[in-house]
Amino acid sequence: MNKNAFFNLSYGLYIITTKYEEHFAGCIVNTVVQATPEEKPKLVVIVNKENDTNITMKKTKKVNISVLSNEADMMLIGKFGFRSSREFNKLDNTEYILGKNNIPIITQNVVSYFEANIINEIDCSTHTIFLLEVEEAENLLDKPVMTYEYYHKVVKGKTPPKASSFSI
Ligand SMILES: Cc1cc2nc3c(=O)[nH]c(=O)nc-3n(C[C@H](O)[C@H](O)[C@H](O)COP(=O)(O)O)c2cc1C
Repeated sequence: MNKNAFFNLSYGLYIITTKYEEHFAGCIVNTVVQATPEEKPKLVVIVNKENDTNITMKKTKKVNISVLSNEADMMLIGKFGFRSSREFNKLDNTEYILGKNNIPIITQNVVSYFEANIINEIDCSTHTIFLLEVEEAENLLDKPVMTYEYYHKVVKGKTPPKASSFSI
């Protein structure tokens, strides 16, 4: 198998956030896809089972998604993409608002956000595929989004092993 073929799949970059009781968790993902366009649209997000965000999402059944602009810097991406919410509170020194669902939404270098309920979970070996129903959606900034290609080629960012895509 030529695994380089997988590098030609296109993605954006997102911060997903969730909260169970007093515990906040959130991480970077590249795996958000719109599944349906109905009245309450459905999204899919794929999260590694070892990520604290996955474990917290399964408890609370709610998640918010922030779409990063291409101005998001490595401080923000490093905090949410390379460290665990088990170690420290990622909200410290991060811009956020509270969603209607009472879960923080990251607003730092964010163009749009969604608030969603988790309505189904599919086991996918190392990862869980979460099916989401969107309750709220809003635009914050009129700026270009961070694509996965821009992240690798311009920001020169890396992908850790727990991402859904192959590491570069
Ligand atoms: C560019 C990039 C893309 C990523 N994509 C995913 C992804 O799609 N799914 C996932 O579970 N983790 C992904 N990650 C890894 C998580 O963000 C990372 O494991 C994080 O430290 C988990 O934090 P947590 O333990 O607080 O949940 C990605 C990280 C980066 C930097």
